[in-house]
Amino acid sequence: MTEKKSFEPKQPVKLDPPKYDPISVEELSKCDGTDPNRPIYVAIKGIIFDVSRNSAYHVNGSYHVFTGKDSSRALALSSLKPEDCRPDWYDLDEKDKGVLEDWFTYFSKRYNIVGKVENATNL
Ligand code: HEM
Repeated sequence: MTEKKSFEPKQPVKLDPPKYDPISVEELSKCDGTDPNRPIYVAIKGIIFDVSRNSAYHVNGSYHVFTGKDSSRALALSSLKPEDCRPDWYDLDEKDKGVLEDWFTYFSKRYNIVGKVENATNL
């Protein structure tokens, strides 16, 4: 029997209703943990998640590289390289697209959706 992936968090997470207000790439870039007055955002397929509460995304955290941008490609490729932290994913193979979809599910169960990337072309 194949194992069904659910990606449920170990501790229940209470999420707010999702917001899909457009947020510009420029504003998103400021939400990378370097400004203490801004939240920390990661976008996947144009959808923006607020990851502020997880220190892994703070400056010097293991996954800080993903913040302030749409990092779909890096997540799909299981890559931490800054050059892979970009929005385009259409050209990837089906396996990598599946990995990306799994990460989208993972983030959806943990982090509030706070907006979408304005003029995103990678939905
Ligand atoms: C030596 C290799 C790695 C180790 C030991 C490692 C370890 C971990 C651990 C322990 C967690 C936390 C899991 C949990 O909360 O249940 C995690 C989460 C995560 N890892 Fe890795 N990881 C590695 C490589 C990578 C790579 C190459 C990527 C690139 C995509 C990656 C992306 C992530 C992401 C996005 C999370 C989710 C963080 C969150 O909860 O928001 N990891 N990793």
